[in-house]
Amino acid sequence: MRSDQAVDDETIAPAEHLGDVISPISGGRVPRHVAVIMDGNGRWATQRGLPRRSGHRAGTENIRRVLERFGDHGVRYVTLYGFSTENWTRPESEVKAILRLLGFFLRREVNNLHKNNVHLRLAGHLEHLPERLQQQVLDALELTANNDGLTLNIAFSYGGRDEIVNAVRRLMQEGMGPDDVTEEAIRDRLFTADSPDADLIIRTGGETRISNFLLWQSAYAELYFTDAFWPDFGREDIDIALAEYGRRKRRFGGLGEDEPL
Ligand code: FPP
Repeated sequence: MRSDQAVDDETIAPAEHLGDVISPISGGRVPRHVAVIMDGNGRWATQRGLPRRSGHRAGTENIRRVLERFGDHGVRYVTLYGFSTENWTRPESEVKAILRLLGFFLRREVNNLHKNNVHLRLAGHLEHLPERLQQQVLDALELTANNDGLTLNIAFSYGGRDEIVNAVRRLMQEGMGPDDVTEEAIRDRLFTADSPDADLIIRTGGETRISNFLLWQSAYAELYFTDAFWPDFGREDIDIALAEYGRRKRRFGGLGEDEPL
């Protein structure tokens, strides 16, 4: 435990056991790693009589305030589902608009992220992206590589099954035999190898499914679903989601401390 943490030993002990941190704002337990399925951009736009791409734009603009709020609470890892392997089947104009928005996000935010000590990572296939965008991503990763604040994983051209296949393929390419295939060996070859498992997965937009997101890393994640569309999901919504997380009893397949035998 860091000596500068202004909480007493008894308060922090159970949270540390779970890998959680104590929120400087609410004083409650908060997840170390929050992952978000940013759903509802299209419906947000349609409701306003706007084209779907306007919803994705508003959703992109929402990322900064969300990251700031997670940071205020002391969350250490955030993974955002920006574009799935399945999203390539959307109409070409929408795919192009989302790809452009990743470029826009990087151009607009990377200096601010760097200034705030954010370590940016890509979860997904860089090689699927247009060359210019690949270079922009690489530049952003390089700029922030030595930052040791919040880690932001951008899941882009990402699929959970694809990620596991990719990890196993790498194991085989490295000449590993059947006995070398362990949970740890697979975990170390996931796109998110540098982040702990997800503690909390938030999905906005009213749907209650995982949609091929972090299939491995979500094994014991708490799930939180809200009807709010992603562009509307703000500071208060985050506070509510984190308060709900703080009330959950996590057992990781074991028994909770208070369970009678
Ligand atoms: C889901 O809403 C959202 C997406 C498929 C794209 C999310 C992308 C961004 C916010 C922009 C780029 C990302 C980053 C990380 C900079 P939907 O279109 O499925 O909404 P709907 O269910 O209302 O149709």
